[in-house]
Formats: sequence, C-alpha cells, structure tokens
Amino acid sequence: MARIVGGLTTSHIPAIGNAIARKMFEDPYWKPFFDGYPPVRDWLDEVKPDVAVVIYNDHGLNFFLDKQPTFAIGAAPEYKNADEGWGIPTIAPFKGDPAFSWHLIDNLVHDDFDLVTCQEMLVDHGFAVPMQLFWPNYADIGIKTVPLVINTVQHPLPSPRRCYNLGKSLGKAIESYPEDLKVVILGTGGLSHQLDGQRAGFINKAFDQMCMEKIVDDPEHFLDMSIRDLVLEAGAQGAEFILWLAMRGALTGKVTTRHSNYHIPISNTASGLLCLENAA
Ligand code: DHB
Ligand code: FE
Repeated sequence: MARIVGGLTTSHIPAIGNAIARKMFEDPYWKPFFDGYPPVRDWLDEVKPDVAVVIYNDHGLNFFLDKQPTFAIGAAPEYKNADEGWGIPTIAPFKGDPAFSWHLIDNLVHDDFDLVTCQEMLVDHGFAVPMQLFWPNYADIGIKTVPLVINTVQHPLPSPRRCYNLGKSLGKAIESYPEDLKVVILGTGGLSHQLDGQRAGFINKAFDQMCMEKIVDDPEHFLDMSIRDLVLEAGAQGAEFILWLAMRGALTGKVTTRHSNYHIPISNTASGLLCLENAA
C-alpha cells in the first residue's frame, strides 16, 4: 500500500526561481534562505519518496480570472513548466503518474470534493520553485508528481477548514492506493505577504511563527478562522497558508518536525520552511 512519509512546506516566490537560475546560493541576500534546504534534502535522500503531491495555487497560468476552479488536480503523464510573466527561465518538465492521480480523483470526488481534472496542465512558479528547492536533480531521479491546485487568487477562497478536510480526504485516498509508493506532500506558498494595495509589503512575524508552531501539533487551531481573518493576519497573499493546512490535513500519523527555517524577507514575503515526518 502507499504510505505518506511526510509533509514539506516552503514559500514559492518567483524571485527564488531566478536566484536558482543564477546560482546565487552564496550571495549574502540569498544565503540565509538557501541554507535552510540542505537538511531537508538530506532527509529526502534518506527517505527517497517515489511521488510528490504538490499543493499549490495557480497564479494565472492555467486558470485566470475568467475561469477559476476552487480545486483542480493534474492527471497527466507530464507537466511542462511555463512562465506566467515573472521572466523566470523555464525548467525541464515534471513526470506525472496518471493512474495514481485518477485514484486520488475517484476518492476525493467520492468524498464530495469536486475537482477540475486536468489531463493537460502547465505548472508555474508555485509548483516549480518548491520542486527545484527540494530536488535540484528532479529530472535525473525521475520523481513523479501530482499537482493539486487550490484557488488563493480570486475570492471567494475555500476556508481553512475546507482545505484541511480536503487534505484529510487526500491522506485517506493516498493510503488506500494498492501500490507500494512512498508519498511526500508539499504545501507551498506563504507565509505572510501582501503584494498589492495599501498594505503592500505587509509581514507579520509573530503570526507566522505561531503558524509554524501550531501547524505541527495543533492544526485544528486554525479551523475556525475565516479567509478574512487570515488576510488580516497574514496579508492578502498570506492566505496561501490554506495550502499548508491542506498538506497538514493529509498527514495521518504521528507528526514530528525534522527541520525548519524562517527568513524575512525574500522579495516581499516572509519565507517559511518545514520538514515534517509522518510516522505510521
Ligand atoms: C511573491 C510571492 C508570491 O507568493 C508570489 O506568488 C509572487 C510573488 C513575492 O514576494 O515577490
Ligand atoms: Fe504565491
């Protein structure tokens, strides 16, 4: 049977994609950020997951304001990277696992999560930046992926509780897959940031640090928050924290922190990194 080995969270800021392309790992601005990742890569080298389910938001590449699904999932053999306008060099395509995707779709729809099923899908920085941070050699090792999109762009956004419950249903679906796959789940985006309006540049360190703590041992703390509460505390784009909550909902066992990092700012964002192990 498939097994969930852990959950990873990371910010997915476009500037990171450019910094990776330019190999700015030792640059003083970037070093404290990039230095967070090698311990997570060591853990991944140990655990060797076969598949990554990547929970992220599409930033206008597949879905724009004219058509915006609340939830969408990839069921393609391959996902090509494209740039939705940040000028990031595009990178090699990511492998899919259509049979595993359809198993997840069957189970999630059965649990009343009506996902848009995408047999063709491009992936933007929300997906590609985290994948590159965790697996710089993803194309060589051939790790398979399932992109799972949650709308954080056009209101109304799904509530923290609904995203957490989607994660729970996802976790159950993964663990009922008959193949012996090791699965890791990524929750991308966050932490606090706001890119537009009067509060552009807004960061809330105290709230972020509370999120990084509570999501490990007390994720239900967030379930009565509204999207408005989240936007007030974390900024308009900080609402991406619902993607972390969906990841956390999928961790079915005993969860322990293997590594974490928090760094302000990267571009306009407080960057947060967590490596959570999920023991059976
Ligand atoms: C930035 C952060 C994001 O989450 C995003 O999707 C785009 C830009 C930023 O801080 O620049
Ligand atoms: Fe984003």
